[in-house]
Amino acid sequence: MIVVKDLKRYYGSGQNTVKALNGVSFEIKKGEFVAIMGASGSGKTTLLRILALLDDATAGEYTIRGLKVSSLPEAERSYYRLTQVGYVFQDYALINEMSAAENVYVLSMMEGKSKKESYEIALEALDKVGLTGKQDRIPDELSGGEKQRVAIARAIAKKPDIMFADEPCANLDTNNSKQVLDVFKDLNDKHGQTIVMVTHEQWHTEYVDRVITLEDGILVSDEMMDESGEEK
Ligand SMILES: Nc1ncnc2c1ncn2[C@@H]1O[C@H](COP(=O)(O)OP(=O)(O)OP(=O)(O)O)[C@@H](O)[C@H]1O
Ligand SMILES: [Mg+2]
Repeated sequence: MIVVKDLKRYYGSGQNTVKALNGVSFEIKKGEFVAIMGASGSGKTTLLRILALLDDATAGEYTIRGLKVSSLPEAERSYYRLTQVGYVFQDYALINEMSAAENVYVLSMMEGKSKKESYEIALEALDKVGLTGKQDRIPDELSGGEKQRVAIARAIAKKPDIMFADEPCANLDTNNSKQVLDVFKDLNDKHGQTIVMVTHEQWHTEYVDRVITLEDGILVSDEMMDESGEEK
């Protein structure tokens, strides 16, 4: 579903050039749940942002479902990003003044759906992340894990091809982290959602099928996991 060939992302120029990604290649199949790991500064966020079309690569090729997105015109990239890509941020990125349901349905409404239809889509998405009955709460009235699950509901409401999450549990305690990871696992198991998640916690690998590890902008290992999170 995703094919990445020799992807590079450099920041700055001349002596100050930072090679955040220095030639990374891999493929991700539909329905896979992949973790991207590596030390701080190894290029994880840079990679995820390029895959989610939030940033451009300096060089290399990037194909989604046969579509060479790395060379699409910006208007088509924007459309793809808005309608096909789900992105979950470390800090939830919710709007504080809006209820859980409103945070989820604002995107559907932007796409031109009616308020009633958008609200129904939002309730269904909130249900999938275990937040039935909490649709009227504003973010301040939710725990960290619940806030992150609202953000996941917002991402799945558009039924994305691929869901990306950059350290979604970084601000959460173990209990809330487990709830969030269980939601991802459930979406992956029951709905075949393709998920690419950046994490630095080894125990999170119990939830995923595969672990890609970066070091200084280079892919240093790519391993399939078994049920217990051990390498196969
Ligand atoms: N906008 C930018 N301008 C210049 N350098 C950048 C920029 N964004 C990232 N970098 C550099 O690129 C490298 C990779 O950064 P990136 O954010 O991808 O790392 P990361 O693996 O996500 O780290 P962390 O685990 O700390 O989130 C780092 O050396 C970083 O300083
Ligand atoms: Mg990062």
